[in-house]
Amino acid sequence: MKNLLEDIEEILLMGPGPSCVPPEVYKALSRKTLGHLDPYFLDIMEELKEMLRRIMNTRNNLTFPISGTGSAGMEAAFVNLVEPGDSVLIIKNGVFGMRMEDVAGRLGAKVDVLEFTWGTPVDLEAVEKKIRQESYRIVAVVHAETSTGVRNPVTEIGTILKGSDSIYLVDTVTSLGGLEIRMDDWNIDVLYSGTQKCLSCPPGLAPLSFSEKAMAKLNGRKTKVPNWYLDLTLIANYWGQNRVYHHTAPVNMLYGLYQALRVIFEEGPEKVFQRHRENHLALIKGLEKLGLKMLVDEPYRLPMLNAVCVPDGVDELSVRRRLRSEFKIEIGGGLGPLAGKIWRIGLMGHTARIENVTRLLMALQEALQESKKVA
Ligand SMILES: Cc1ncc(COP(=O)(O)O)c(C=O)c1O
Repeated sequence: MKNLLEDIEEILLMGPGPSCVPPEVYKALSRKTLGHLDPYFLDIMEELKEMLRRIMNTRNNLTFPISGTGSAGMEAAFVNLVEPGDSVLIIKNGVFGMRMEDVAGRLGAKVDVLEFTWGTPVDLEAVEKKIRQESYRIVAVVHAETSTGVRNPVTEIGTILKGSDSIYLVDTVTSLGGLEIRMDDWNIDVLYSGTQKCLSCPPGLAPLSFSEKAMAKLNGRKTKVPNWYLDLTLIANYWGQNRVYHHTAPVNMLYGLYQALRVIFEEGPEKVFQRHRENHLALIKGLEKLGLKMLVDEPYRLPMLNAVCVPDGVDELSVRRRLRSEFKIEIGGGLGPLAGKIWRIGLMGHTARIENVTRLLMALQEALQESKKVA
């Protein structure tokens, strides 16, 4: 039987994730597997936790990667905090806010949703009004809404919540590693991410951090955390000093994340964020030259996820298929109400380079011309 792995092509990953993985990270993934309680591996874990604290700008003790993708991070955040009847406010303007609503609802939370039009940012006045009207146990928002390309004002929401009893929960799956995040300064209590976006590691881990306030809520639960695998009181015994076996850590994935973070710190986070911004601006300029329009107004655009409106008369899917088959480039389509209406172009982590921007713009120009001829 033919080995399918031998024929995997090199595709330029310019969709909503996964992003391109640098060679150093591939190399790290293929290092020799150690036991998950091996003393040398424990040293790697300690450094990994410290690098995560640095990229999140937090001193939180409970900071480590959950075994699982970004959704496992989301699930871990809610499942550890929500007890039946807890009031939760979800600030929603896209698919991932919608997913939060579903996750919190399944846990028996009393979920309240403040929804904004997809493609527009969260309105701070409305948030402030809502939070003053009712006190919530948890207030949750997505920083970088990958489904629309909107950057939500997480710093300002943190300022509104300062001094309140609410636990502030932020999804940074798409933003961590591409935008500055200051967890402690922004009063964020719970933050989770994913490895396959701006951290430029394959999918499989969800960095997570809990503040003291979030830990107090977890430790004060009247009921057990209803999910054994994601119960942080158990997992913390492995990632903390006790080193008690919980589940077999995905050792090689953790090597990958360790190396991916080293790559970011070697370049310097500020330079990495600047590279994201510059390439985003170069992409927008090129798209505008092609006559394309962006979905999101300028001040709210994410550098790492660019939502482009599909022009009238152009078949969204056929352009994407052509990019993939002929030019070996992957971009994403729209989700939910934006399906068929937008393309989502990712400039995440290692992908955010000018040569990739240029290659995509040339390919897109040809694919658009072809699609107009067909129409
Ligand atoms: C903002 C956001 N949150 C959560 C997720 C879920 O992550 P995963 O697909 O890795 O489970 C994603 C994935 O695209 C995302 O973009």
